[in-house]
Amino acid sequence: MVCEGNKKSYLKSQNLKIIGRSSLRGEVKISGAKNSALVLLAASLLTDEKIKLDNVPLLTDIEKMCNILKNLGVKLQTKDHQLIIDSTNISIKELPYELVNGLRASFFCIGALLTRFGEASIPLPGGCNIGKRPINEHISGLKALGAEIIIEKEIVKAKLAENKNRLHGSNIRLNCPSVGATETLIMAASLAQGRTVIENAAREPEIQDLCQMLNKMGAKIYDSGKEKIIIDGVQDLHGCSHKVIPDRIEAGTFLIAAAATSSSITVSPVIPNHLEAVLNKLEESGSKITTKGNSISIRGNNIKAVNIETAPFPGFPTDLQAPFMALMTIAKGRSTISETIFENRMNHVELLNQMGSSITVENNVARINGVKKLKGMTLAGADLRSSAALIIAALISRRVSHIYGLEHLDRGYENFELKLSQLGAQIKRETNRKINSHSYYEGNKLAKDSLAKIKVA
Ligand code: EPZ
Repeated sequence: MVCEGNKKSYLKSQNLKIIGRSSLRGEVKISGAKNSALVLLAASLLTDEKIKLDNVPLLTDIEKMCNILKNLGVKLQTKDHQLIIDSTNISIKELPYELVNGLRASFFCIGALLTRFGEASIPLPGGCNIGKRPINEHISGLKALGAEIIIEKEIVKAKLAENKNRLHGSNIRLNCPSVGATETLIMAASLAQGRTVIENAAREPEIQDLCQMLNKMGAKIYDSGKEKIIIDGVQDLHGCSHKVIPDRIEAGTFLIAAAATSSSITVSPVIPNHLEAVLNKLEESGSKITTKGNSISIRGNNIKAVNIETAPFPGFPTDLQAPFMALMTIAKGRSTISETIFENRMNHVELLNQMGSSITVENNVARINGVKKLKGMTLAGADLRSSAALIIAALISRRVSHIYGLEHLDRGYENFELKLSQLGAQIKRETNRKINSHSYYEGNKLAKDSLAKIKVA
């Protein structure tokens, strides 16, 4: 096992060598959803009984979250894609900065820890290169439930009000349908005294998965997936077994890759209505889509330009904005892509333009003129989804590309290159041990500014 520090530089010395223009065919197995598994791990803190999670994706973000739980005293047993989590003996202490830095989902533990133990201290998650990532909705919601919160030296310290031994139910209206804030407040309210109503709640499938598991644990949560969620607090929650839902973003990424290479593939397992907005846009742009039970098949051909605007679920997901832009670079005509969720989620534009795309961006709206071809290049991804976009562009392009920044890719895609190669892509992971410093990137004709972009998303 490469330890964290070396592992990071080790990952930075890896790249994916991709020979473009190969078409894809066959069926790809979709892993469990990263953004569900992360919050389910946080929710396991709500009980002193065991939680058995199946279909957990093997990702570095999951590894980080497991390290955070272990730091709290949680016992974890892993076997393949199964995790058994035992939070019987937790010693509450501050989560160390180096563990939570770079994993925003670690902050979602605050609701669970506070409502079960009456206190929690978690470093501010801070921003990343897709945006400031504030937590004001989390904080104001927890205060409405009766928490006293101070932020001292970048640490969020939450505790129950004097002589209170539980949070209390409340009516909360979120200013924006924040996924993380909705999850934090659902977990906090699950053990609060009385009823909580969350209005303008986020409706993402990962939240519905969280509520399904919590209800299996004895919680009383109604109408998850709607914009008004009701939680009747209970005294305690018991253990359960739960299977993580399939990753709709991974599935969407593969479907977009197939459309971009005029390929026919099937993705499974997947829940089709988790991807409705994406399937509609793929069909509008010329791909043929058929869904059957828990699988979706696509035949991509003659892609034409379509406009998209990201939105909270069930709208077009922001996490597929970058991969879809890679598709639009070679679509016939002009398309516009508006990013309405994050203020800085266009890191891939400059890199796609280096590959021959024709994209301009103004006020978070990208305007794309479709081009005939892209050229292979050596580039570094700037965040998780930009890296996926670059790989799709490399599959489209002629000649060879080397894509660095795999420390981002491995956060959210399990065995991405293996799955692509099993579909027929000419792609493989190369390790060049001699490069552990940034100098190699520069020496490797990589644009200096893309070097500056290599940060944790
Ligand atoms: C979750 O992040 C996902 N991460 C993100 O996936 C995803 O892009 C995002 O939801 C939107 O769908 C996980 O689930 C671990 P938000 P989260 O709170 O919860 C503003 C990926 O690539 N906001 O819904 O942090 C915020 O600035 C990752 O897998 C506030 O203003 O997202 C943003 O503009 C990236 N105040 C918008 O809401 C708050 O207190 C959406 O953020 C919280 C958020």
